[in-house]
Amino acid sequence: MKKTITALLLATIALTSTGLVLAAGGAHLESANIDVDDKASLQRGAKVFTDYCLSCHSAKFVRFNRVATDLDMTETQVMENINHIGAKFGGTMTAVMTDDYAKEAFGAVPPDLSLVARSRGVDWLYTYLISFYTDTSKTTGHNNVVFKDVGMPNVFWKQEGVKEAVYEEHDGVKTLTGMKVVEQGTMSEEEFHTMIRDLVAFLSYIGEPNQSYRKSLGVYVLVFLFFFFGVAYAMKKDYWKDVH
Ligand code: HEC
Repeated sequence: MKKTITALLLATIALTSTGLVLAAGGAHLESANIDVDDKASLQRGAKVFTDYCLSCHSAKFVRFNRVATDLDMTETQVMENINHIGAKFGGTMTAVMTDDYAKEAFGAVPPDLSLVARSRGVDWLYTYLISFYTDTSKTTGHNNVVFKDVGMPNVFWKQEGVKEAVYEEHDGVKTLTGMKVVEQGTMSEEEFHTMIRDLVAFLSYIGEPNQSYRKSLGVYVLVFLFFFFGVAYAMKKDYWKDVH
């Protein structure tokens, strides 16, 4: 019996770890290194998202007024800085582009991004957004290291600059080993990476708006359990002292 349980446990661990490797798609992922408690970063991320992504992607589970409350923004700030789609203050973030048009123009419908940070993970998102490179064989003129033949155009090429893929060839097999900048963008690499970090932090926040509360609550629960263990143990000792 013991042996069967150990074998089952080992099999589960092996399966979960292969799952994780497969989920990463084999490509090396950069660490997103985001801070979802940093309100200033989330506010900047909200602006980047609504300026650059909402034209094609929606985030239909997100309401502007909820963002205002959670990110300490006033109604005026939200309506002037991040609501460019003419939605009401209590309205949701819906894409400007229709699905039919997107399918015709990009060959794929841009998915809703409300939960993308949970389905893809923040490291994948960060790496994806900094991994576009020039590929003239594509209609968009770009390709992506972690999402091969992606239908999405590189929306940040002006800020990031133009990058070309670097390949290494071994026995006739070409592998992509990195990227080199061939035309400088309007931002330095550090500025660009900070902007993407803010954007990914915002995507992580919308994927689970309560995550900061959940984490701080978790600490209180652990502290409570720690003290409660002491009380329970003292009570157990007291109740059982006459039994032995
Ligand atoms: C011009 C339209 C357009 C804009 C603007 C745009 N995207 Fe996309 N995006 C797409 C399309 C189309 C796809 C689907 C690609 C495919 O399936 O090949 C996509 C796919 C994605 C995916 C992959 C989703 C998944 O899980 O498969 C992510 C993440 C993403 N976009 C994030 C963003 C972010 C963040 C922005 C803003 C910086 C943005 N996109 C701006 C069109 C756009």
